[in-house]
Amino acid sequence: MNAAIDKILSELEELKCKSAKEVEEARIRFLGKKGSVTALFEEFKSFDKERKKEFGARINALKNAAVAKIEQLKAGAAESDVQDASGADLTMPGDGFALGSRHPVSIVRQQIVDIFRKFGYSVAEGPEIEDDYHVFEALNFPPNHPAREMQDTFFVSNGHLNPLLLRTHTSSVQVRTMETQPLPIRVVCPGRVFRNEAISARAHCIFHQVEGLYIDKGVTFADLKQAILLFAREMFGPETEIRMRPSYFPFTEPSAEVDVSCNICKGKGCNICKGTGWLEIMGCGMVDPNVLRASGIDPDVYSGFAFGMGVERIAMLKWQVNDLRHYFENDLRFLREFQTAVEV
Ligand code: DAH
Repeated sequence: MNAAIDKILSELEELKCKSAKEVEEARIRFLGKKGSVTALFEEFKSFDKERKKEFGARINALKNAAVAKIEQLKAGAAESDVQDASGADLTMPGDGFALGSRHPVSIVRQQIVDIFRKFGYSVAEGPEIEDDYHVFEALNFPPNHPAREMQDTFFVSNGHLNPLLLRTHTSSVQVRTMETQPLPIRVVCPGRVFRNEAISARAHCIFHQVEGLYIDKGVTFADLKQAILLFAREMFGPETEIRMRPSYFPFTEPSAEVDVSCNICKGKGCNICKGTGWLEIMGCGMVDPNVLRASGIDPDVYSGFAFGMGVERIAMLKWQVNDLRHYFENDLRFLREFQTAVEV
């Protein structure tokens, strides 16, 4: 018995394995059902009391040594197994994923929102599938008013009284805000809008707007002008000037279109501003008393201003992109140009 134990002990001592598979084979050879250590235990069982006493401790020590050796080899094999058949080191870090960049429209939308947040505006949102009431009626578009034709609407249902439609502008969020929020109100409403337009360099059937609304006692056109001037300077640079041209929107009175001085030629005239020195950026005006009234606000006590701008348009002017379609085609060469613009 002693000789058999010594033999196995020296085999164990010399045992070397190159892989987990070899360790498992060795384990079976020594400790498996038909393994050499197991066989000794079988033999041991048949010993009488005296011999059991004599060999018990040794045979147990042998088993422990075998178990310990196999464990030690297993740990070693796990390390060497990281080298696969090709010799590659599997512990090497994997190929990194290149970090994506934010979409230019998201970057500019966020810049617009951040500028107005600094002025104390909060963000309001509303549904993209809206009803006629919130997109048109409450904004002072009477039924069959030709202004409804200006915004080529996608209808979702043709309910006669209040059909569902894809909102054509984010002005609908003004209405929802006036209906639900306590006065005074100071919000910007960023969102996606939809119009049934032929897709071209200058028009798309999906685009983004940011709407603004400020309602309080004693808000005047001078406040509107100041807010927009500050916005324009934050967005296009401190030298920027604005001008307002009279315009018409059913939901504002008076209404204006806002131009900023061309940031490329500094007002001298270039092909971006078509020689005028000015670039149109948004519509705005004093909220029409009918609009206030429709949402239960007394126009004799409160007044307010509103404005609305296209995010793609602002982005095009900021980065001199000459074709709106770039924003929707997801050409990586275009999108990667904005990688460094993220921190702004
Ligand atoms: N809703 C207008 C549009 O989509 C933009 C607009 C103009 C919004 C004037 C306003 C505003 O709030 O006062 O063309």
